[in-house]
Amino acid sequence: MSELHVINHPLICHKLSIMRSKDTPSKDFRTLLDEISMLMGYEVTANLPLEDYEIETPICKSIQKRLSGKKPAIVPILRAGLGMVDGLLKLMPNARVGHIGLYRDPETHEPVEYYCKMPPDISERYVIVVDPMLATGGSASDALGMVKKYGAERLVLMCLVAAPEGVKKVMEDHPDVDIFCAALDERLNDHAYIVPGLGDAGDRIFGTK
Ligand code: PRP
Ligand code: URA
Repeated sequence: MSELHVINHPLICHKLSIMRSKDTPSKDFRTLLDEISMLMGYEVTANLPLEDYEIETPICKSIQKRLSGKKPAIVPILRAGLGMVDGLLKLMPNARVGHIGLYRDPETHEPVEYYCKMPPDISERYVIVVDPMLATGGSASDALGMVKKYGAERLVLMCLVAAPEGVKKVMEDHPDVDIFCAALDERLNDHAYIVPGLGDAGDRIFGTK
């Protein structure tokens, strides 16, 4: 059974509250999302496997630990997921980056797929699917399904703000995938926007409203 991890560290709560304000401009919104993504990345990568290896310090030979296996993969859901990539790459500069293009149909709120490109050997990588908003869960659930079709087996979903409806859907559709978020909000409104949320994440990142 999957787990929901709400990473409500004081720094994350503080930065997220500024992002939520309608008066925060795109430039600050992007910077804060980048900072929070890096802070969340610390928790999201807490179970990466390690292996022993020998080094020589100026004093003696020593067995130390390093990350083992293939580099992790970060997979943003376009567009808004792009805003979470750089923060994670600061922690894992050698991570691979895949892309999934999905948008929500404004009438039906159903996700529509328009792009998918994955790094090689995805089945051997720890895959972090990123998207700031988990609303109905349709986009995240489809994206996780697409990455699994490419062979991924170790996946997590990292978002910023989640609605209970989205968490439920992803947990039902993907009981093997843990969800990490910075906040679990109250509900969705009639337009399937998260309440209180922060509005349209893609528009706020890219200044397209
Ligand atoms: C937003 C958001 C998620 C999706 C969440 O993307 O970034 O991908 O909606 O909604 P859901 O959980 O109900 O599927 P949007 O479709 O607005 O596209 P964009 O990132 O290109 O703005
Ligand atoms: N997509 C967004 O960008 N925000 C929401 O609140 C819901 C979906």
